[in-house]
Amino acid sequence: MLEPQIKNTKEENYELSLRPKNLNEYIGQERIKENLKIFIEASKKRKESLEHVLIYGPAGLGKTTLSHIISNEMNSNIKATSGPAIEKVGDLASILTNLEEGDVLFIDEIHRMNKLVEETLYPAMEDYKLDIIIGKGPSARTLQLELPPFTLIGATTRIGLVSSPLRSRFGMTYKLDFYSNREISRILERSAKILKTPLAQNGTLLIAQCSRKNPRVANRLLRRVRDIAQVKGTGRIDDKITRLAFEMLEVDKKGLEPADRNLLEVLIKKFDGGPVGISTLAAATNEERDTVEEIYEPYLLKIGFLQRTPRGRVATKHAYEHLQLEWEKNALDI
Ligand SMILES: Nc1ncnc2c1ncn2[C@@H]1O[C@H](COP(=O)(O)OP(=O)(O)OP(=O)(O)O)[C@@H](O)[C@H]1O
Ligand SMILES: [Mg+2]
Repeated sequence: MLEPQIKNTKEENYELSLRPKNLNEYIGQERIKENLKIFIEASKKRKESLEHVLIYGPAGLGKTTLSHIISNEMNSNIKATSGPAIEKVGDLASILTNLEEGDVLFIDEIHRMNKLVEETLYPAMEDYKLDIIIGKGPSARTLQLELPPFTLIGATTRIGLVSSPLRSRFGMTYKLDFYSNREISRILERSAKILKTPLAQNGTLLIAQCSRKNPRVANRLLRRVRDIAQVKGTGRIDDKITRLAFEMLEVDKKGLEPADRNLLEVLIKKFDGGPVGISTLAAATNEERDTVEEIYEPYLLKIGFLQRTPRGRVATKHAYEHLQLEWEKNALDI
């Protein structure tokens, strides 16, 4: 158990060191940045706190990073927590009453907040008021506390699981999109500079192509390739050493890794290409259902290897071809 933990911490530190600190360093998502710049400037001019912001999109596309940047750009302090960490109404009350004027409260995985906590959040978001119930039964009383104006930033990979009353209380909602290869290349160049790793253009392009349009994946691959370049090469990353590294790491042309391919293979070989329910598929691949839905699926859907149908997941012809398996007619053909 010890090793994965150490590995995790290293991975997290690595991510932190590469995290952009302001909007200009945040690459891509141009429309969102333009929007945010205007709203941030306007609230600063009025000396008001920014409206509440909801950010959603697949894992690793930069939700947490953007939340911290918003707070930086507002010159605010940020207090970070997550939906499942706020177990009781009392926990939320103590977080809210400790906020200072203009603070940003960041709630990650906001779709996993419990119902009572969520309902307590409504008046806090709307009127900066906190209703606390004291006592039980007929003698229970409601006590109302005034809160300082603050900005709530919520992040989620699962917008469909955010209730509509909660969604409607955010002034701005932004969906992060997958990045173009060009944008991923810029992210890689920036990261290589921070890591003081020489990176040739053909190396950048190859890593970008295999990064699943995802900055976290790009930075992770860069780190792996850098290790291999240091041990097996001169330390400089070009297409040749990258190709060798990807072979060792079993990363294919589409950027799929063994776990992605295993998911598709199980779907095709065990379930005739589907349709199969997500829970069954997760169980058959020994993965958590959330991991399948939040980590593997979004990109496989994006590149058209997988489809969601009312009866379950189905592999497409592209998936068969990629795995060099013979295409057999399945639900998609009917
Ligand atoms: N637009 C960007 N420009 C540069 N780097 C980025 C950008 N977006 C993300 N990154 C990098 O990718 C890493 C992952 O981003 P982040 O942790 O913000 O993703 P996330 O959407 O919060 O993921 P999760 O859903 O898993 O919480 C960050 O450490 C950062 O270095
Ligand atoms: Mg995050």
